[in-house]
Amino acid sequence: MRKNIVAGNWKMNKTLQEGVALATELKELLAGAKPNCEVVIGTPFIHLSAVSQLVTDSVINVSAQNCADKESGAYTGEVSAAMVKSTGANFVILGHSERREYYLETSEILNAKVALALANGLTPIYCCGEPLSVREKDAQEDFVKKQLDETIFNLSADNFSKLVIAYEPIWAIGTGVTASTEQAQEMLAFIRSLIAEKFGKEVAENTSILYGGSCNAKNAPELFAQPDIDGGLIGGASLKSVDFKAIIDAF
Ligand code: 13P
Repeated sequence: MRKNIVAGNWKMNKTLQEGVALATELKELLAGAKPNCEVVIGTPFIHLSAVSQLVTDSVINVSAQNCADKESGAYTGEVSAAMVKSTGANFVILGHSERREYYLETSEILNAKVALALANGLTPIYCCGEPLSVREKDAQEDFVKKQLDETIFNLSADNFSKLVIAYEPIWAIGTGVTASTEQAQEMLAFIRSLIAEKFGKEVAENTSILYGGSCNAKNAPELFAQPDIDGGLIGGASLKSVDFKAIIDAF
């Protein structure tokens, strides 16, 4: 059975002290009844070790927001999948549109990152999603299919079944414009149908697919009630513990 997941992506926000304070608050808020979903927080690299230690005895999982496309060596400024894993983190967000757009991450680079993440026991949260210009032409399905065909659809079924997918339409990220519930459900059902074609119905039914883009406590209940939406990848609203907890409580 696939899991419901609420994952935060802090992006480039919070100093180490602020991040530890946020994780501490969230841990306290989640100390009561066990949530009805898996909870993940995606912190900057420098927070991973401290936050992982802080949440070891809680329901919170820790994720990096990126990892290198090389195993190790002379790559100044890079952080490898093995290093991420060694902090105690067990997820890594890969292929976020901000990485693709601002840091020119191609499908080839992403294939290397996904392979290294999997080889090091990290669960990739693999992002896909179209820009506004593509949505305006109603070409979003072809666009997302190409993103998947060029990357994670090349994995073996065994490896594919280890990852989580997040659909994040670029026009909905940080804009306050959420995809409508229908638009989100339609795309996630489409992605699931592609997985079924490629890897079979069982793998498709067991893959967690998240929606991301201006998801908040108000719209989460309706989004998460859709048959193909298994949770959310949350940017802005993951930066306040109370707001993030309210989204978790939508399950
Ligand atoms: P917002 O929730 O701020 O729109 O960001 C979504 C996102 O990009 C999560 O990865």
